[in-house]
Amino acid sequence: MEKHSSVEVYPEAAELGRNAAEQITRVIQAAINNRGACFVALSGGETPRQTYLHLGMEPLKDRVAWSHVHLFFADERSVPPDDPQSNYGMVNRALLSWIDIPRQNIHRIRGEVDPSLAAREYRNELKEAFGDATGRFDLMLLGIGEDGHVASIFPGADVVGEESALVQPVIYPNQNVRRVTLTLPIINNAREILFLVSGKRKSSVVQRVLSVSRPTMDLPATMVRPIGGNLRWLLDREAASELDPTIEFRLR
Ligand code: 6PG
Repeated sequence: MEKHSSVEVYPEAAELGRNAAEQITRVIQAAINNRGACFVALSGGETPRQTYLHLGMEPLKDRVAWSHVHLFFADERSVPPDDPQSNYGMVNRALLSWIDIPRQNIHRIRGEVDPSLAAREYRNELKEAFGDATGRFDLMLLGIGEDGHVASIFPGADVVGEESALVQPVIYPNQNVRRVTLTLPIINNAREILFLVSGKRKSSVVQRVLSVSRPTMDLPATMVRPIGGNLRWLLDREAASELDPTIEFRLR
């Protein structure tokens, strides 16, 4: 495991969700105190929904100066925002509808247009927001698929090897996959990366990813290695249930 990474294990998904929200709040507050703003990339999927719900409720929602926060997305499915599959739609229902954040601070990937166009648009939006071509997020939230994918960076996909573009379309016609994703260069440029992982079905991939010594393109999550940033894994007990004894973690 990377020297700047840590693993925390919570008894249940509910504690994981609540604690993750509290840690996220602290990261946001620190970023605003230190740099006047906080740029966050939100993960999609089901796992982070609990965390987003906590962020959008008392007491946490009032601890954040949302007007200084810019929310982006780590990836998006190529569906309209009101589609049940939309990551934006999930975040909007769980968090955005409950907080007082300026609409211009919400940077949605347009799932309703062609993925290549949406990727081009998002590259421009990132460049405009960060003022340069690098894009250093203060906080990057990620989940992990059972195959070791992060965001929409799937094993064996060309995007795994992307070394310059910050955003890419991911299109597999034969598997009906049409998505847009941040790439590893911008993911690894984040100051803080938080993996949120819950459930027994993730225990095997968590063990594999945390026990490899070198990054492998077959497991894109192993290629998440922040350059000058911190990497934290927040797991529930089920997702941590196959960790081998050599892996250090903190029971919370
Ligand atoms: C997505 C996510 C994806 C997700 C993992 C885990 O759009 O689905 O970006 O990378 O984080 O697939 O998903 P679950 O949290 O639903 O298990």
